This record gives sequence, structure tokens and C-alpha cells, in this order.
Amino acid sequence: MSRFDTALASFSLNGKVALITGAASGLGKATAELFLDVGARVVVADLDGEAAKATVEELDVGDRAVAVHIDVADEAAVKRAFAESATTFGPLDVLVNNAAYRNKADTMSMSVEEWDRMQAVCSRGTFLCLRQAVEQMRGKGGSIVNISSMSAQHPTIFPNMHYDAAKAGVDAITRLAAVEFAKEGIRVNSVLPGGMTTPGVAKMHASTVAITGPATIPGRSVMGRAADPIEMARAVLFLASDAASYITGAELLVDGGFTKG
Ligand SMILES: NC(=O)c1ccc[n+]([C@@H]2O[C@H](COP(=O)([O-])OP(=O)(O)OC[C@H]3O[C@@H](n4cnc5c(N)ncnc54)[C@H](O)[C@@H]3O)[C@@H](O)[C@H]2O)c1
Repeated sequence: MSRFDTALASFSLNGKVALITGAASGLGKATAELFLDVGARVVVADLDGEAAKATVEELDVGDRAVAVHIDVADEAAVKRAFAESATTFGPLDVLVNNAAYRNKADTMSMSVEEWDRMQAVCSRGTFLCLRQAVEQMRGKGGSIVNISSMSAQHPTIFPNMHYDAAKAGVDAITRLAAVEFAKEGIRVNSVLPGGMTTPGVAKMHASTVAITGPATIPGRSVMGRAADPIEMARAVLFLASDAASYITGAELLVDGGFTKG
């Protein structure tokens, strides 16, 4: 093996098993595709089971990808999905906690139910999936990447207090879990995306609550554009892979400089 090949090998997921939540759209789907490109077997887990199946068909990698229905907010559904994953591919090496939804909800008028659902999907979902992954990684190690948001650290002028608070919770989970599970060889990190062009964001832009400067509008970022999901997926791969073997508890901002502008 040349030195070039050895250097690149640390970014490979060859033979590894990865479960990605929310993998039927946007960043989750781009991450699934990239992980497959670098040799992983991938569980495409999503609330929209039909979209997950369509994603697996589209990825067209035979039995290296499988679709699984999951509602990350529901413990029984999470347990079922992780058990199905283990039966298909064996224990996990990588978990990407990516599932989330975003709706515009004004601070003064959002309902308590809306607040609670956001916490349930983003922060409880991360907690529930992390616990199942740790069970499967115990004894052999693994890597967990939690998808947070730059809005956990910096207001983005969306009236999305419930989302920002939930994502701050995700980062707290990352920091604590990194410390708690380091001795088991499990690394836990966050990626904090800036604005990305995804179906989820397009849907949000089309909804009715007024916004005054979303991060995905060109010019709001110092780089003058939003990210393509693949640019975020590469950061997820870095943290998931052995290339990041000494990184745990990190919160990696991938925001095109937005928070410095
Ligand atoms: N797009 C952005 O600008 C942006 C910015 C910062 C952070 N993020 C984060 O990146 C991640 C991906 O965002 P995206 O824009 O690709 O989203 P998206 O809306 O395009 O896709 C999200 C996927 O998650 C699934 N999902 C929703 N609720 C679920 C649940 N309860 N259980 C399982 N799956 C569920 C949806 O069906 C969908 O397939 C999210 O964590 C989001 O908060 C996105």
C-alpha cells in the first residue's frame, strides 16, 4: 500500500455498519450515499418508511443498504429499528443521529405541543438512539455523530426557539456521552451545520410564518451561499471514521463562516 493509500484508508468505512436516522432526505441521504461510497453497510432509517425504501432503491447498492422504519421520538420504535439493524448487519460501528424536522414557529404563539414535539424528536430522539447504539458498540467501540445546528450557539434569525433549545440539548448529550463512554472506545461528536439546501429547508421556506434573514439565503453567509448537503456529509464522515480517532466531545461548526460574519 502506498503512503497515499494508507493516508486515505483512515477515512474509509470499509466493512463497517452504520445506521443513519432521517436518511431518506437531505443531509441524511447524502451521508448514506457517501458512507456507501467508502465501503460501509448502511441502515437507512426514517419516519417515512416509503421514502426510506425509495432511497435504498435509488442508492442501488444491492444488499449493502437496507431501509428501516423508525420514529426516533418513540422508544419502542427505536428499539425495534435497532434490533432489525443488528439482525440484518450485526452490531453497529457508526450511528448518525440526523433525524429532525423544522417548522417555523413564532416564540409568542407556538403551542406547548409544538415545543414538546421538537424536544421529543431532536433531543429525546438523540438520547434514545444513542443508548441503543452504545448497547451494540460495547466491547468493540464505535463512533456516534450527532447532527446539531449552528443555531445551538448563535441565533439565525429564524423564530425557532424550540429548535435552537433542542439542538443545544443535543450538544450537551454529545459532551456528556463523550466522557461517559470514552472508556468503552466509543467516540461521540456533534456536527453543527450552517444553512444547507435540503428538502426540509425548502418546505420551511414555503410555510407561513415570516422570517427575516434565513441562513440559506445567499449573502447571509460570509461565503455567499448555503452548503450542498455533500459538503456537510464529508464532515460527518471525518468524525465517523478513524481519521478522527483522537476526537471526542467536539462540536464541529460547518457553517461557511456564518457565525463569524
Ligand atoms: N438544512 C439546514 O439548513 C440545516 C441547518 C442546520 C442543521 N440541520 C440539521 O441537519 C439535519 C438534517 O436536516 P435536513 O435539512 O436534511 O432535513 P430534511 O427535513 O430534509 O430531512 C429530515 C429527515 O428526517 C426524517 N424524520 C423527521 N422526523 C423523524 C422522526 N421522528 N424519526 C425518524 N426520522 C424522522 C424526515 O422524514 C426526513 O426524511 C437535521 O438534524 C437538521 O436539524 C439542517
